[in-house]
Parts: sequence; C-alpha cells; structure tokens
Amino acid sequence: MSVLIKNGRIITAVDDYHADIYIDGETIAAIGRDLPHHADRVIDAAGRLILPGGIDPHTHFDMPFGGTTSADDFESGTIAAAFGGTTTIIDFAIQTKGRSAIEGLDTWHAKADGKATIDYGFHMIVTDMPVSRLPELRELRDRGVTSYKLFMAYPGVLYVDDGTLYRTFRQAGENGTRICMHAENGIVIDEIIREAVEDGKVAPRWHAHTRPTRMEAEGVHRAIAIAEVANVPLYIVHLSSFHALEQVKIGRARGVDVIAETCPQYLLLDDSWYDRPGFEGAKWVMTPALREKWNQAELWQGLRMGDLSAIATDHCPFCFKGQKELGLDSFTKIPNGAPGVENRMSLIYSAGVVEGRLSLNRFVELTSTAAAKTFGLFPKKGTIAVGSDADLVIFNPTRKEVISIDRPHTHHMKVDYSAWEGHEVTGWSEIVLSRGRVVVENGSLVTRGGGRYLPRVGHGELNR
Ligand code: URP
Ligand code: ZN
Ligand code: ZN
Repeated sequence: MSVLIKNGRIITAVDDYHADIYIDGETIAAIGRDLPHHADRVIDAAGRLILPGGIDPHTHFDMPFGGTTSADDFESGTIAAAFGGTTTIIDFAIQTKGRSAIEGLDTWHAKADGKATIDYGFHMIVTDMPVSRLPELRELRDRGVTSYKLFMAYPGVLYVDDGTLYRTFRQAGENGTRICMHAENGIVIDEIIREAVEDGKVAPRWHAHTRPTRMEAEGVHRAIAIAEVANVPLYIVHLSSFHALEQVKIGRARGVDVIAETCPQYLLLDDSWYDRPGFEGAKWVMTPALREKWNQAELWQGLRMGDLSAIATDHCPFCFKGQKELGLDSFTKIPNGAPGVENRMSLIYSAGVVEGRLSLNRFVELTSTAAAKTFGLFPKKGTIAVGSDADLVIFNPTRKEVISIDRPHTHHMKVDYSAWEGHEVTGWSEIVLSRGRVVVENGSLVTRGGGRYLPRVGHGELNR
C-alpha cells in the first residue's frame, strides 16, 4: 500500500516547510515538492499541519491499582490515543513484589499483544530488586525494556526503599538504561494522611492537602543525588510543582543527567478542582495532586527553557461510578489517577501554540520527538524523515472543539467522565496514520488492531 500526502505543511522539532510525503508500506519513502501522483491513496492536506505522531511515554492501561483496575485496556486505550493524534505509547509493566520482573513483562505482553491499534513499548515498574535479581535488568534490556520506574510514594504497594533505589540505579546505569522516578516522600506523606484522617478530614480535597509540594521536591532532590552517585540518567515522571522543578534545575546546573516530564493536568488544572460539589473532586484525585495555580506559569517556563523536556499524560483512568466511589467515605480509598491519553495533543497545541507559550517546533519536540530520543525510539519514531515510520497526524490548526463525555467524537476512552469536561480547544487531529495505515479519519476508526510491540534501545545505541 502506498500513500501520497500532498500540500501539507510539515512540522518537526526543527523543520517547518511545505512538501509532499510519499509512504511506501510502513515507512516514509520520499519527501519533496510536487512528488508524482502514483499512489494507492492520495490525501490532500492543504491548510493542515503534518506532525509526527504523538508519543505518550506515560500510560497505565489495564493496570491493577487502588483495589481495582484502570478502565482502559490496550484495545480501548490505544484507540483513544489514536483519535487524539498519539501513535505510540509507552506503558508501565509491573513486577509483582517478590517475583521475577521478566514474569511482569510477560504479563504485560499478554495484556497488549494483538489488542493494540498503535505501537507500544514498556517501561518496567521495579518493586523489588535484591542483588540476586539484578541480572533480570539486563534481560529486560535485551527484550527492549530500557527504562525502569521506581516509586518513593505508595508505601506498602509500589514503594521501594533507598537501598533498592541505589542498587537498581547502579545496575541500570551499567546496562546503559534509564531510571524513571515517581518522586514524592511517601513515608512522610502517609504520616500526614494519618493525621488528617484522625481529624476526620476525609473529603477528596484532603488528597491535595496531605501531599505538600515540598515532599515532591524532597523526592526529586533525593533521586537526583542517588542518580548522580550511581551514574545513571534520570527521568522524573509527572513533575507537578515549582518546588520540584527548582530541584531539577539545581541538579542540571550541577551537570547531573536529569530530565523531567510534566502533564497537561499540571499545566492547565489546579487544586480548586477538588472543591467541586459533593464527591466530584474525586475525578481529579491523582498523584501528585493538582497544585496551586501559580505553579502553572513556572511549569510553562520550564518547558520553554528546557528544564522540562516532555509532556506525557499519566493516563490512569478510573470510572466515577463504582471505581472512584470506592473512596466515598475517605479520600485514601479513591483509586489514584485520571484519564487523558486522547486529549494531550489538542490541549497542548491549544494552550501552548495558539496561546503563544510554545513555538510549533517546541510543541512537536515536547509531545513526540523528546520521548522518542529519551526512550530509544528515534528516528524510527518522533520525526518526519525518509526511512522513519509513517506515523503521521494531519492536524487542523484552526478547528475548535469542546471536549465532553456528551460529545462522543471527542471521547473514546472507556471511562465515564472526562477530566477535561467543557474545555475548549483549538487544533484537532483529523487523519492519523500508524506505520502507513490510516487508523483514524474524520472522526471514525478506520483500522482496528495492528499495533506492534516496540523493543527499545538504551542510550547511546542507534535505532535504525
Ligand atoms: O495517580 C496516578 N498518577 N496514578 C498512576 C500511578 C502513578 O503514580 O503514576
Ligand atoms: Zn507515578
Ligand atoms: Zn503514572
């Protein structure tokens, strides 16, 4: 199958020009002015931007958490991602405490293989890493899992102690792989939570009050210090606050290899969402919590200045009915997480490019290229170039939409609310191609399935 995309404006992290793109099978075969017309399918992209498919390096599909399981599986989650212009996700496989991490990887393959519509990779959440298990990290790397998430939060669940952090960091560094860090001091936070609950403070808003930004900053500081000593590249996930960002800046100024992602919810929503009537604030109970509004300008500046290098979603959806409601009598039982994999590209284009906070090139870098480079997928993914996978978004830069659960063309996630209900955006993904296959076109799913596992390389290795 060949596809010719004509008359579009091609945007990458560094380019901005008008040209045609010729796709032969799964990859881009030629880019040029007035390419000859011979193709099985010709798409006229006049007036549209052509973007590299979005890469969301932080999703939780089919994830057991908080006494339940996230509402999107790899089928619904990858379809929703495609509707939103994302053509690659990196999800988090989990090692069960006391068991092999390889077994965790096999479990996540069983969840994803044959179900996904777009391509996917895995990070591994390490919950337990005695010396005897360290060789498993090399085996994971050889199977294309070149990044490991560890948690300072959630004691008794995903939390690991500093010794485990150091051991895993050391081995990951030696293997040429990367550490992803959930940086929040969960031990102290659990004490703050205990005090709040003893005082009868159990409404959703107390989720935010019990997770101070200083405890996120402490976690970032500690992770950077351990990574510096262990000599491993560090990636702070879902960074949410100015205090945490300050620590990243200090580490980077010292020359530590630390970068960080933030998420649309921390850029555009704030802790006033927890004051919604009744139990509604539970919809935004996620970790880290939404912060005071003044943090947002600092995060946008961090994106502009390069101290924040990617925007992911941390998509971890739980239905309001039956799932979030598990915490009706106490915020401590609300499953943590919110949906968003479908919304990221339009939200960031709109608030970033249209509202003048980001250049078009930086938008592409933050939503696609940086993740490809950081996580060993570039230049197969994350750019528009001859030889790259034909993962492309034909994006209407002026189309206005209102995101709502009641407007089905804006919501394909299998969750009964939108975290962005009523939010108006400018900019919409109209045609989405994954490895040369049109998967979404003008509001319809054209191709279901066909997404492939992406074994990733470590840093310093070439992905061709
Ligand atoms: O609330 C969140 N973020 N849930 C998903 C797990 C995590 O910490 O990323
Ligand atoms: Zn996390
Ligand atoms: Zn997460």
